[in-house]
Amino acid sequence: MSGPVTYSRDGNIAVITIDNPPVNALGKAVRDGIVAAIASFEADADAEAAVIVGAGRTFPAGADISEFGKPPMAPSLTSVCNGIENAAKPVIASIHGTSLGGGLEVALGAHWRIAQKTAKVGLPEVHLGIIPGAGGTQRTPRLIGAEAAVEMITTGRHVGAAEALKLGLVDAIDDSGDVVAAGIAFAQKLLADGKGVRRTSDMEVSVSDPAFFDKARSAAAAKSKGQMNLVQCVNAIECAKLPIAEGLVKEREIFTLCHDDPQRAALVHAFFSERAVAKVPEAKATPRPLNLIGIIGGGTMGAGITAAAINAGISVVMVEMNPEAVARGEANVRRNYASSVTKGRMTQDQLDAMLTAKLTLSDSYDALADCDLIIEAVFETMEVKKEVFAKIDAIAKPGAILASNTSYLDIDAIAACTKRPEDVLGLHFFSPAHIMRLLEIVVGAKTAPEVVATGFQLARMMKKIGVRAGVCDGFIGNRILGKYMTVANYMVEDGASPYLIDEAVREFGYPIGPFQMGDLAGLDIGFLNRRGKEGTRNPNLRYGAGFLDTMYGNGWLGQKTDIGFYDYAGGARSGPPNPGIMPMIEAARETLGITPRAFTKAEIIRRYIAAMTNEAAKVVGEGIALRPLDVDMASLFGYGYPRWRGGPMQHADEVGLASILADIREFEKEDEHFWAPAPLLVKLVEEGKKFGDLNNA
Ligand code: 3HC
Ligand code: NAI
Repeated sequence: MSGPVTYSRDGNIAVITIDNPPVNALGKAVRDGIVAAIASFEADADAEAAVIVGAGRTFPAGADISEFGKPPMAPSLTSVCNGIENAAKPVIASIHGTSLGGGLEVALGAHWRIAQKTAKVGLPEVHLGIIPGAGGTQRTPRLIGAEAAVEMITTGRHVGAAEALKLGLVDAIDDSGDVVAAGIAFAQKLLADGKGVRRTSDMEVSVSDPAFFDKARSAAAAKSKGQMNLVQCVNAIECAKLPIAEGLVKEREIFTLCHDDPQRAALVHAFFSERAVAKVPEAKATPRPLNLIGIIGGGTMGAGITAAAINAGISVVMVEMNPEAVARGEANVRRNYASSVTKGRMTQDQLDAMLTAKLTLSDSYDALADCDLIIEAVFETMEVKKEVFAKIDAIAKPGAILASNTSYLDIDAIAACTKRPEDVLGLHFFSPAHIMRLLEIVVGAKTAPEVVATGFQLARMMKKIGVRAGVCDGFIGNRILGKYMTVANYMVEDGASPYLIDEAVREFGYPIGPFQMGDLAGLDIGFLNRRGKEGTRNPNLRYGAGFLDTMYGNGWLGQKTDIGFYDYAGGARSGPPNPGIMPMIEAARETLGITPRAFTKAEIIRRYIAAMTNEAAKVVGEGIALRPLDVDMASLFGYGYPRWRGGPMQHADEVGLASILADIREFEKEDEHFWAPAPLLVKLVEEGKKFGDLNNA
């Protein structure tokens, strides 16, 4: 038998091996192969039981996700799993690696399951916008009960072998590392014990609470924040109360409903983009070592980056200006671990021991001499950055990489004050840096490929998503953010309340709205940024931030002063609107001579999306982002863009580029400077193309 599935026999036990690297995904050829192998097993009079294994690193990790969105090809995975279960002789799945999604469904089709101790199983379909669609929603509750099945399927979490055994998902655990031998031994024992075929479909679902499914549906709806398949997972699991044949039909209906929804396409786009984003021209270069990192500045960012490095197992030297600042820096690092200690994830002694082993503190730049990488996180002014880079250039060892965490400043100008611009890049972390997953890797005109590759290596070590960005004001994320924040400000001046805008943006799927975000970050940041650009601002551009300047003057800086757009009395993390805001905005409108008009939430989102798409198209068109998918990943991992919409470029494709361009042209009539259409957007519309076409180019 050729192809990705082979049938062989070891004495009286058949071995069916699935070999489709890298993860043994269950594409058409594999499904065909399993059907043929089961037929061979049934016909093989000398085979008393069969063991299914995955070759290489894993039991199948799921259906072949790249087949989604294409016309279905027989045999369906459901029929493959049914075929396994209907075999007249016992079939055993011997699991290692990650048996996920369709991979677990194949195992659930088998009559018995044995897992390696290190194996993980799960039904992560929820993260792809679908539901388990090959019996997973019907067999899992039969095996482990409805409550556990709902938890497992709606979270999509990976379950370790020991827990899977406890739950009843697997029947035995083996620690030998040899899945074939373990499967055969299990099969022999089964036969010796006189056990045989045991079909999960014959079992009944247990539910202790009659109202369980209604409660689970409400919980899923509350958690979903617009992602529709969570509730559908519960609906499908409820159908396991029906006879299996009927339940499987219902499961297929719900699967198809989810599969055909744009949310599925968006989530699959996010899955593949999360991996593609690291595929950059410099990826082939060899990264430099990353054993010791120097961090200059122990403020918000320096302390967060320090924690991120230590969590990745990398030793850190943190340098501050003087002994008092060093002590503050250390306290900031410790604060990042405070909740880990109070929640019992580590003891105070463990924290102290970890910091003693991994963190060196100093007020002297000389302490940076042995560092492989030095990340500067000092105040955001070019003068200070230049001074710091000149100093570290003199101290850092040859080959050391010099990085800036600047949010906006010109990396090439910073590199130019060193004698090694090829070793300089931007590493733009997001706050809190030990939690936020985005890392913009800003490539200067002279940055060497292996320096870029080291940036991506650091992202991998820190379990972050590295996104390659070119040099411009704000790189990818902050540059686009600047535009949709500005359009939000314009709408406030023109008549929308900031609270309505926050609500509309939350309903779109963001965790918080732009004005809540301003309060969180601190309104002083935007104010200082505007003041810094005073002399260079385009005089044709509408200012739009007068009311924000008034807030700064009032000391309404957001959460840090307990009052901003919202009232955070007593240090609360959320609160009611600040009653002073609307009168202040009304006064600002009057001064500007603006007669306020009404905005609907739909118009708010149209303008927000138009501003975001237009600037993102400029960012891609200018080569600041390599591809639209890089913008999407920056937005998802750094700015709270709803994953189930895939990212702003994916969403723009979904809405239709022509319709977004038409909006922009309409808004352009009011303000030709702000709304100048991006040349790339115009070109794509003229050519009838989508942003997605550029991802595969
Ligand atoms: N289909 C197609 N390609 C897949 C795939 C799948 N199910 N799973 C992984 N791949 C690809 C990745 O895109 C990547 O390709 P690349 O090298 O070209 O970028 C390659 O396989 C290796 O994957 P990773 O880089 O992610 O490898 P890791 O070792 O880091 O992780 C993994 C392995 C945990 C298995 C991870 O790949 C993963 O989570 N995969 C998806 C699992 C999943 O969601 N399964 C459910 C699928 S839906 C389903 O089964 C529907 C069914 O109910 C009908
Ligand atoms: P911060 O004000 O909290 O910390 C800056 C620290 O640098 C202070 O502790 C200060 O003592 C120290 N410092 C200043 N000059 C120094 C010098 N010459 N040598 C050693 N230490 C020095 O500032 P924050 O927020 O940590 O920002 C740092 C950098 O990170 C800035 O470039 C900022 O734009 C950038 N950034 C900030 C983000 C944020 O959300 N706060 C997000 C992403 C980037």
